[in-house]
Amino acid sequence: MIKVGIVGISGYSGVTALEILLKHPKVRVTYVSANQTNGKVEDIWPKLKGQCSLSCSRYQAEKAVKSCEVIFLAVPHTVAMGLTPELLKSKVKIIDLSADYRLPEADHYQKFYETVHKDKGNLKNAVYGLPELYRTQIKKAILVANPGCYPTAAILGCAPIMATYSDTVEQIIIDAKSGVSGGGKKLSESLMFCEVNENFKAYKVLSHQHTPEIEHYLSRLAGKDFPLTFVPHLLPVNRGILATIYISLNKKMSYQQVYDLYQKFYKTEPFTRVLKPNEHAELKNVTYTNFCDIGISVDENKKLLIITSAIDNLLKGAAGQAVQNMNIMHQFEETTGLL
Ligand SMILES: NC(=O)c1ccc[n+]([C@@H]2O[C@H](COP(=O)([O-])OP(=O)(O)OC[C@H]3O[C@@H](n4cnc5c(N)ncnc54)[C@H](OP(=O)(O)O)[C@@H]3O)[C@@H](O)[C@H]2O)c1
Repeated sequence: MIKVGIVGISGYSGVTALEILLKHPKVRVTYVSANQTNGKVEDIWPKLKGQCSLSCSRYQAEKAVKSCEVIFLAVPHTVAMGLTPELLKSKVKIIDLSADYRLPEADHYQKFYETVHKDKGNLKNAVYGLPELYRTQIKKAILVANPGCYPTAAILGCAPIMATYSDTVEQIIIDAKSGVSGGGKKLSESLMFCEVNENFKAYKVLSHQHTPEIEHYLSRLAGKDFPLTFVPHLLPVNRGILATIYISLNKKMSYQQVYDLYQKFYKTEPFTRVLKPNEHAELKNVTYTNFCDIGISVDENKKLLIITSAIDNLLKGAAGQAVQNMNIMHQFEETTGLL
């Protein structure tokens, strides 16, 4: 049994992590906290009535360090890098759901998050928590930078072709749609019911902060800089991300070639499912699960691949993937608590 804590328990990702961890057979949840929210967890989240006897109070490093071996930081970016140095010094392992340690260059972070990185020294200690690509490094990690929700769907949709045929790939356009919980629980006019319901819109076009993360990890796979186009949209649903990815090639590839490549790449992955011919990814097949579904179509004459990739933003896109990373870090069966 390991003792784990969650900071940000009043938020959507924090409570999703808590729900998984309360049922996890190898874990005891010993600490929960937030910022302004306090009181019994079952009062904050009535759906957990009778399932959790913990109380939530303002974050206190000393208490967190004393009661936990692993901490999930389900807090906004900039908050996580304020808490991390002290926790790492006290040998507490961290799984950070925020964006603070995902980009290895502090300058890059400053450009896209418009704030100075306050913990540059720990950037080198962070491992990008996408198990399909970095499982070996995650096993030994003390600080896991859990990927963003859009980057998880986008990178998993492009990884096989970028890792194997990057010289054949001319252009990538990622057209992605997210449910409203992707924006978190904090109040925001653009996420209010009347703004979202019966509406569908693009936002942060050509300026979304997840663009450099997707570009960085796909470029790393390709072994060269690979700029791409990413446009996010807001869907009037609670949860789920669907990315439709247009990949232009400079050489013909057959459907069978692409399908075999994706099948082989994800053959042993417990949560990434390559769909059969003529099937495409759908939100309803992945919401409330830790799966990523990937569908493939190929127009051989146009040298065009269409990949669809769907996840639940709060599970494979956040808390589910975070628990998957914890399982890997502690040599637990990777699917524990997640199937
Ligand atoms: N939502 C998603 O689909 C998703 C997906 C991937 C990654 N993420 C990332 O995960 C993190 C959490 O996202 P979320 O959507 O769950 O956010 P959220 O619903 O807005 O919740 C944020 C949580 O952080 C707490 N918090 C804020 N400032 C704090 C501080 N200074 N000290 C301690 N706790 C503090 C809040 O507490 P109070 O309520 O008391 O203020 C709340 O519990 C973010 O970095 C986000 O980018 C989210």
